[in-house]
Amino acid sequence: MIVNATEMLKKALNEHYAVGQFNINNLEWTKAVLQTAQEQNSPVILGVSEGAGKYMAGVSTVAAMVRAMDKALGITVPVALHLDHGSYQGCLDCIEAGFSSIMFDGSHFDIDENVQKTKELVKLAHDQGLSIEAEVGSIGGEEDGVVGTGEIADPAECKKIADLGVDFLAAGIGNIHGVYPDNWKGLDFDALEAIQKATQGMPLVLHGGTGIPEDMIKKAISLGVSKINVNTECQLTFAAATRAYIESGKDKQGKGFDPRKLLAPGFEAIKDTVKEKMILFGSVGKA
Ligand code: 13P
Repeated sequence: MIVNATEMLKKALNEHYAVGQFNINNLEWTKAVLQTAQEQNSPVILGVSEGAGKYMAGVSTVAAMVRAMDKALGITVPVALHLDHGSYQGCLDCIEAGFSSIMFDGSHFDIDENVQKTKELVKLAHDQGLSIEAEVGSIGGEEDGVVGTGEIADPAECKKIADLGVDFLAAGIGNIHGVYPDNWKGLDFDALEAIQKATQGMPLVLHGGTGIPEDMIKKAISLGVSKINVNTECQLTFAAATRAYIESGKDKQGKGFDPRKLLAPGFEAIKDTVKEKMILFGSVGKA
C-alpha cells in the first residue's frame, strides 16, 4: 500500500525503532524490497536517487512500476516511494510523477537559501499529500554524483528547518555514503543528542546506513533516529552473489544464462540484506 512516510515515521519514533529506506535500481531491486517488507510485516521506504530515476527511464516510469507492482504483489504493508537527495526541480518532477514522499537536499546552499527553498517545497509537497525530508549539515562521501563534505549539522540550523514543517530531517553527524574508511571516527552522538533536543519530536534520518556497527545503530535509534538509509550494502551483496554464480560456471550449465536464473542469486541476496536490516532496525511486525 503506497502511502507517504509521515505516519510510519511518527510511529517509529514513538515506539523506538527505525524504518529502513532501501534504494532501488531496477525491477528486481523493487520486487526484492517489496516482498521482504510484506514477509516481515514491516513498513518500508523505497529510495530513488535522481541518477537511479534517470537510469530507470525517468521518475514517471519508476512511479508507474512501483504502483503497479505494489498492487500486483498484493502488498498491504505501508510503502513510501521517496526521492533521495532531490534537487528543487527533481522534487517538482517527483511530485508530478506520483511519488508519495520527497527529500529536498538543500544542504549545499547557505542556510537562508536552504530555508527558503525547503519552505516552498514543504507547501507544494503537503498540498499534494506527500511527506518531505530536508537536510542540514552534510553526509560525507558520494552517492550517485551527490558529493558531501561531511559537515556536522548545527542544532540551531536544524531547528530552523524543522520549524518549516518538514516531516523528517536528515542531519550530518559524521555519517558517510558508501563503505566507511578504516579511520572513520564513528557517529557523533553528542551532535545527535543536541539535534534531538533542538528539534523535539522530529523523526531524524540516518543516511549512510551501510557498514554502521550494530551498537551505533541502536544508540542512534535511542536518540531519535527513525529512518535509516541503506544503499551500498544491497549493491555489494547483489554483486557478490552474482559473481559467485558466474564464477562457479552456472551460467554455462543448461539455460543458466537465462536472466531470470542469472539474477536470482543477487535477488535473494538483496532480500537477505533487507531482512537483516529490518530485524536490526526493529521494524519487523510493525506494519
Ligand atoms: P549507503 O549507500 O552508505 O548505505 O547510504 C545510503 C543513503 O544514505 C541513501 O541516501
